[in-house]
Amino acid sequence: MKKKKLWGGRFKSNTSDLLDDFTESISFDKRLAIYDIKASIAHILMLKKQKIINELDSEKIIKGLSKILNLVQKNKFHFDKFYEDVHLNIENYLIHTVGNIGKKLHTARSRNDQIAVDMMLYMKDEINDIIKLIKNLQKTIIQLAEKNIKIIIPSYTHLKQAQPILISHYLMAYFFKLQRDVEKFKSNLNSVDILPLGVGAGVGVNYPTDRKYIAKLLGFSKVSENSIDTVSQRDYIIEFIFAASMVSMHLSRLSEDLIIWNTDEFKFIEIDDAFTTGSSIMPNKKNPDILELIRGRTAKIYGNLMGMLTLLKGLPSSYNRDLQEDKKMLFETIDYIKPMLIIMNELLQNITFLEQNIMEKMKTGFIMAVDIADYLVKKNIPFREAHNIVGKIVKFCTEKNKTFFELGLKQLKKFSKKIDNEIVKIFDYRYSIESKVSEGGTSTANVKKEIAYAKKIIERV
Ligand code: ARG
Repeated sequence: MKKKKLWGGRFKSNTSDLLDDFTESISFDKRLAIYDIKASIAHILMLKKQKIINELDSEKIIKGLSKILNLVQKNKFHFDKFYEDVHLNIENYLIHTVGNIGKKLHTARSRNDQIAVDMMLYMKDEINDIIKLIKNLQKTIIQLAEKNIKIIIPSYTHLKQAQPILISHYLMAYFFKLQRDVEKFKSNLNSVDILPLGVGAGVGVNYPTDRKYIAKLLGFSKVSENSIDTVSQRDYIIEFIFAASMVSMHLSRLSEDLIIWNTDEFKFIEIDDAFTTGSSIMPNKKNPDILELIRGRTAKIYGNLMGMLTLLKGLPSSYNRDLQEDKKMLFETIDYIKPMLIIMNELLQNITFLEQNIMEKMKTGFIMAVDIADYLVKKNIPFREAHNIVGKIVKFCTEKNKTFFELGLKQLKKFSKKIDNEIVKIFDYRYSIESKVSEGGTSTANVKKEIAYAKKIIERV
């Protein structure tokens, strides 16, 4: 049997192979098949309820569609490039199996509203999956923060040692970054909760349809308000890729810290062999490739965000085939971000903090400088002056190649008469940490508070 395009009526001849190759989307939009069929079944049920098609026809069509659903689920459905996209592949097969009645399926709808509903249904599942993956990562972070609550590391600004912190405080910073990502994806869920199906090609349809009914059947809480906006907007995809860009940016920054901590120069962490790679030439190498690829793939996700924004920026209203390009950008983003979240979660569980090395790296004690200045403030020296005094001590130590801890009281007193024996107490990282009494600081009490709060909000749906 000669194949014919379902829209071929006004054409004298079939399309060229070149065109078929160039315009097809089935090679990638086939992943929407299940959603396309579910939306079609809901559409038919609505047409039946509204008496737009009769009961017998609708039953036959639904039976046919269910058969196709089964084939798709078993991976046995043959997708054909000739039929362009997921919609026409399924419709064509339906007509092929149930006969002419199948041709009624496309009453009161267009591929323009169909693709939007498929994408939204698909995205709902993917967004929920991604939220779960982020939450799993957050749970790991909480566990690590609890387990390592005693470990002290330097905090950094400008990648120079700043002040002592609990490693748990550092880790919890990522919990809160990820929490904002969860909120973004949740907001994205609202954007894909508005039914686009039923607006036809972009102006509405000539039938007394009941869109609210389809919405109910498919689990949408609202129906879109404006047909032109409905077929032309892809805000929900841009929002998604933006949220993915943000979470990947967070993962990338975490990766960067871990890469630095894993260097031979830092040696703050050891990554388990199972999560590192070797070099084909240098037998000595044990590389953090996973982290580098997380950083690298973040660039591709940003590329997709720019791609989507650019795709839409000069587009005339309402539907244009350019919009087909949204799929590759969305799918690639999803295919990148999910494994990134999964592997970061695993990797974090396979890291050991090398406490002794960390301590060794803080040995000059200069990291205590602010605490010493604050000690002088307590002795009634104005902060700016105290800052200056401690600066001079640091300068002295640097020139004499000494650490803070090596200076005796006599020497220290030369910088300020107000310095007394009490200063010994300040020369202690733990003291520094527990002195951070302000809300949100690195004291153990505050970090425990953070953890308790985190445990509470992670249970929120
Ligand atoms: N494959 C198309 C897409 O992804 C489906 C909609 C096509 N609509 C049209 N009028 N050609 O956007």
